[in-house]
Amino acid sequence: MQYGHFDNERREYVIDRVDVPVSWTNYIGTRDMYGVFNHTAGGYLLYKSSEYHRITRFRPNGVPMDGPGHYVYLRDEDTGDYWTISWQPVGKPKEHFSCHHGLGYVRYLSRYGGIDASETLFVAMDDPVEIWDVALKNAGDKPRRLSVFSYAEFSFHHVAMDNQNFQMSLYAAGSRYEDGIIEYDLHYEENGYQFFTADFAPDGFDCLRDAFIGPYRTERDPETVETGRCKGSFENGGNHCACLQKRVTLAPGEEARLLFLLGEGGLAEGQRMRAKYTAQQADEDFQRLSAFWDEKLSALQIETPNAGMDTEINLWNLYQSEINVMFSRFTSFIEVGGRVGLGYRDTAQDAMTAVHSNPEKCRSRMVELLRALTREGYGLHLFEPRWFEPQEQGQSFRSPTVIPTPSKSEIVHGIRDACADDALWLVSAVVQYVKETGDFGFIDEAVTYADGGQGTVYEHLQRILDFSARQVGQNGVCKGLRADWNDCLNLGGGESAMVSFLHLWALNGFVALARRLGRTDDADRYAALAAKVKETADRVLWDGQWYVRGITADGRKIGTQRDTEGRVHMESNTWAVISGAADEEKGRRAMDSVDEYLFTPYGLMLNAPCFTRPDDGIGFVTRVYPGLKENGAIFSHPNPWAWVAEAILGRGDRAMKFYNALCPALQNDKIEVRQSEPYSYCQFVVGRDHPAFGRARHPFMTGSSGWAYFAATQYILGIRPDFDGLLVDPCIPSDWRSFFAVRRWRGAFYRIRVENPDGVQKGVKRMLLNGQPCATIPPLPAGSIADVLIIMGNDKEV
Ligand code: GLC
Repeated sequence: MQYGHFDNERREYVIDRVDVPVSWTNYIGTRDMYGVFNHTAGGYLLYKSSEYHRITRFRPNGVPMDGPGHYVYLRDEDTGDYWTISWQPVGKPKEHFSCHHGLGYVRYLSRYGGIDASETLFVAMDDPVEIWDVALKNAGDKPRRLSVFSYAEFSFHHVAMDNQNFQMSLYAAGSRYEDGIIEYDLHYEENGYQFFTADFAPDGFDCLRDAFIGPYRTERDPETVETGRCKGSFENGGNHCACLQKRVTLAPGEEARLLFLLGEGGLAEGQRMRAKYTAQQADEDFQRLSAFWDEKLSALQIETPNAGMDTEINLWNLYQSEINVMFSRFTSFIEVGGRVGLGYRDTAQDAMTAVHSNPEKCRSRMVELLRALTREGYGLHLFEPRWFEPQEQGQSFRSPTVIPTPSKSEIVHGIRDACADDALWLVSAVVQYVKETGDFGFIDEAVTYADGGQGTVYEHLQRILDFSARQVGQNGVCKGLRADWNDCLNLGGGESAMVSFLHLWALNGFVALARRLGRTDDADRYAALAAKVKETADRVLWDGQWYVRGITADGRKIGTQRDTEGRVHMESNTWAVISGAADEEKGRRAMDSVDEYLFTPYGLMLNAPCFTRPDDGIGFVTRVYPGLKENGAIFSHPNPWAWVAEAILGRGDRAMKFYNALCPALQNDKIEVRQSEPYSYCQFVVGRDHPAFGRARHPFMTGSSGWAYFAATQYILGIRPDFDGLLVDPCIPSDWRSFFAVRRWRGAFYRIRVENPDGVQKGVKRMLLNGQPCATIPPLPAGSIADVLIIMGNDKEV
């Protein structure tokens, strides 16, 4: 069953059946002001921080599931009938409504009661101003008298103030109205203002939520809309909203356009922005938003025989990865902003995967992570980047009911809370960044440590590698510590196969970097360490058919052939191959086991069979319901690791089988099972051991997005930047005869045609650059365009 379709031409996902099973969300904004909104205009807007500076309120995990939001009500002044352009909250018959999710905007459309209407939400490019662009048309043959009402509920800014201790919060904010502008003032803050205005002179206003809604009513039937008369309410204290009313009369066929503006700042700023954001300016900004995404998407566009993959790589997968890089992981309907800052491992992985389209942001994310590294060499699992900025900004929000600002000693947690994998990801992220950009200078920049002192980026990376070398258990495998990538595998002093493999991967990347920099002594030293890690892993972790997942502190191996639950795990087997620890034979066998035990039509399960007996030696995962989350769900994030592993092994058919199973775009017609949006990778899909098998949960905020993009483009399509050249080494299904890609790399464009006349899965037999045979593809001058022809086949000719 499907609820909508991909309109790739317009770069939109169109929901034409709006009663989707769960909220289908999207993001607006490109910088400091951003927001998350669903298919019914439910959602919230914020400025810089989803914890400290929320602009509009959201009632998470509520009933209904998606409110409040940024709504536009229309009222027929003659009949009293009213509706919302975004279907909900009024909820007229659904056939009259649709929603278009675009890149950085959402558009709601209604064709109800003879009126065609649209509401488009997006954020201005240069100012923290959200634009609500509303268009109306009288589609009938009689004149119509309408009232238009905006509505959004203001937040008390801090997520805690918004959700608790109302004896204080309720007296913290005030509102007033002047000259067509509502000013909202979070009075306890120095500059706690927002404005709400419009490009017309309003006929009425309400600033008080409860006046607008009325007693024993909800957003579904607000009194102001039902009566058609605003009350002119405002007050110091209480809950506040942004309602402006406009009466419009439309002759048959006549159109009207109204802009509402919600922005940072008080009355004066509202006046300035109102003068600036005319309809023409809004159009210009909307075009600039489109150009913003053009620029990003033009970093790589592909044409392959797989339409689902094209939709993902050309649009939605990159978009999702960018959302994670730009806004981090704490703003959605599931992550509702209560957690501060950045997660170490998630941010490092995200930053590794979108360097080609957002090098500046990825670089600044890496700097934030480097600053949150301890001298000991582990990263702070969760931190607020502001804490480590050279000129630390004081938190302007100073609530009287103290929400404590932690001191440095509390911020820098000890090794007890260190996750064994966190900082290892950063090594590869930095290496990837340099390969993409050629910015070798970055390596020798000085950066501080979280607990004092400073060192170069290079030294930071060494400390990370050295930390893992020290933190090994009794078998010589890296300790699992508080957790490894799997939050629920809590091995403490026990050992994690995945971390040792990850260590090896990071070591290999670092060795290549050190060699390229001519730092031969370091390269040799770390290469020797890598050889030792590899030898230990091979000796200790191979179990005959696959690699074990780890060893508990009391010496029990996890994930052996003798186990009846938690027998085969994805993380250790995929990473054994990716890291180069597994030889070809073991790699193939391990990945065959992954296919045999973990594959489902919706993707690969994280482990099987699920754990059913609590075992604290293994960790929390044994207490998670079977089939959910880390206990045998199709946890999306590691799925691309299996594509990479299969691509390394040269099995393109298998890699594509795995790719297709998880691919959201290919599940557009399975929404009765999937439920969640088909334009976003979700954190997990319910596994085989749960009755809701196939149900996807937690869209957008997930590392699967970056990894899916990275694995598909760099390993399946095989377009991989290196320090001094662009590699093209595809691993594709044998029935692909060709594909085409345009890749921007260091400012030049490479038009890459790959032909596969012999139907192989891997292997390049001939490579031509601008018609000339070549062995490598060098960086070319920025702005130049080069034609690359790759002929796949078994016998190398050049
Ligand atoms: C969540 C966390 C991520 C972790 C994963 C597996 O997605 O954000 O850090 O790696 O779960 O436990």
